[in-house]
Amino acid sequence: MGSVKADWVYLLHPRPAFVVCSSAENVYDCLAASWVTPVSREPPILMVALSPRRATYSLIKSSGKASVNVLDWSMLDVLHYLGTTSLYKNPNKMANPNIKTSISDGYVRIEGALAVLYCSLRTFLNMGDHDAVFLDVVAVDVNRGYKPKAEVASYNYILHVGGSEYTTNVNSVMVL
Ligand SMILES: Cc1cc2nc3c(=O)[nH]c(=O)nc-3n(C[C@H](O)[C@H](O)[C@H](O)COP(=O)(O)O)c2cc1C
Repeated sequence: MGSVKADWVYLLHPRPAFVVCSSAENVYDCLAASWVTPVSREPPILMVALSPRRATYSLIKSSGKASVNVLDWSMLDVLHYLGTTSLYKNPNKMANPNIKTSISDGYVRIEGALAVLYCSLRTFLNMGDHDAVFLDVVAVDVNRGYKPKAEVASYNYILHVGGSEYTTNVNSVMVL
């Protein structure tokens, strides 16, 4: 058996990458997240592992609200920008004209997303360099790309290999 080095996490990639957004007190922000997983179908709960250093995470804690946006491969540049720019370092992050958002009922969403899951903060657990953040899924918008499962023959989803590397699905389906 080999020793566990910091890059052990990449053994569990490629992983689907999403955009998580939140807003509180007239500030809004979004980040890229690939450490996202459902943890309960009923009640509907998902978990996203977030570093306490993320500005978006502090907005989720303040507002108790978050959205998880599924972007098509054609919007990879949007996801990568949101995942490599922090509002803490760049206060104009969300003013980038390529980032098109809308806000309603306190939820921020990315325009053009395939699907959006609207969530409320259930609880979070301190783990280490990331927290396990549990979100109740309270509503969804499905715009395209799901029927109800991912239409992998027609759409390309964003998969994160690690760092700045991405891949996507091949457009073939095997039904067993
Ligand atoms: C593809 C990709 C996936 C990422 N996944 C996560 C993640 O699951 N959890 C996390 O805390 N940060 C993740 N990050 C890093 C954040 O998206 C990044 O630090 C972002 O700039 C934080 O922005 P903010 O401080 O404005 O919230 C990821 C970055 C990329 C590019």
